[in-house]
Amino acid sequence: MTNELLPRTAVIQMKAYSPPQNGRGGKLRLDFNENTVGCSPAVIAAITNALTGESLSMYPEYSQARSAVSSFLGINENQMTFTNGTDEAIQLLFNTFVEAGSEVLVLSPSYAMYRFYAELAGAVVRQVEYKVLDDLAFPLEAVLGAIGPKTRAVCISNPNNPTGTPVSESQLRLVIAAAPNAAVLVDEAYVEFSGITAMGWLAEYPQLFVSRTFSKAFGMAGIRCGCLCSQEQNIAWLRKAQSPYSVNVVAVVAAVAAVNDVAYVRNYVNEVLAARSFLEEGLGALGLRWYASAGNFILFNVGSRASTIRDQLKQTGILIRDRSYEISGCVRVTIGTRAQMKQFLNELEKVL
Ligand SMILES: Cc1ncc(COP(=O)(O)O)c(C=O)c1O
Repeated sequence: MTNELLPRTAVIQMKAYSPPQNGRGGKLRLDFNENTVGCSPAVIAAITNALTGESLSMYPEYSQARSAVSSFLGINENQMTFTNGTDEAIQLLFNTFVEAGSEVLVLSPSYAMYRFYAELAGAVVRQVEYKVLDDLAFPLEAVLGAIGPKTRAVCISNPNNPTGTPVSESQLRLVIAAAPNAAVLVDEAYVEFSGITAMGWLAEYPQLFVSRTFSKAFGMAGIRCGCLCSQEQNIAWLRKAQSPYSVNVVAVVAAVAAVNDVAYVRNYVNEVLAARSFLEEGLGALGLRWYASAGNFILFNVGSRASTIRDQLKQTGILIRDRSYEISGCVRVTIGTRAQMKQFLNELEKVL
């Protein structure tokens, strides 16, 4: 008889995440809020130059890149640590500050990885709902009501994925102030599109953590590079708990090149913002209800045919996300260029 080797109870009990399917390349990818035109050519050039036998044979060194990226963020280099995407930032935050059995507050629907890593850490997950009837606006009162003495972490996506709705500066300050004994994570994955940031408040709040990523506006999701920012003493704890080389040498070279080419991102963001207005008008003209978004994606309601519409669009080479399992009737589309949105609206009209 053989014994089955069982993992930790938290792993048995947690919900599995279903990652995107393979075979997305070559399609119009409007399903994962990626940049739809690719990263800056300066990033490709920097990576190409960095691909030498010596650089690849060495463990990565971070000091130069920390200096470049922290000055881009307007903080000092001991107020940030590089992470393997935001995903490592979330996991690292919990590994460092959340004991098994303590409480993590998340919203729903929101980015799935907060719950994923909280459950993996053995935390008790408390969930506050975004309400469709309130236009999926940030449920401030409910969040404030859910924060208590047991809360060890609060995860806020600003703007929120998949609703697109932003959290205002005053709402954010109320949440942070209500949770002086918790690690409050403000995930700013889409900050380039929203313009709302808590980065300037690090000195004011020892409980504040801000994450950033190169996966979205910068067009580098495949590189897996982000960073987690906070006061210096918190970063020292994070670095103590972090794998020393979780971010690879190519990623940091790419990050430096990316922040040195701000014009590229500015142009892309301007195009997406113009495309967002164009898309809003187009969805309205098709008689569809959409939710005002501060990100590079929009959630809209197609009624009972959400998964069919997703599948029919896929046949035309356009990928979108069905989110009807969490907000009835809704699909989410990533916003790219105006030309891409025109193509999307044309095909959508045909399948409606
Ligand atoms: C709110 C939010 N945070 C983080 C991420 C992922 O970031 P990363 O690629 O940096 O792990 C996503 C991706 O969809 C997201 O929506």
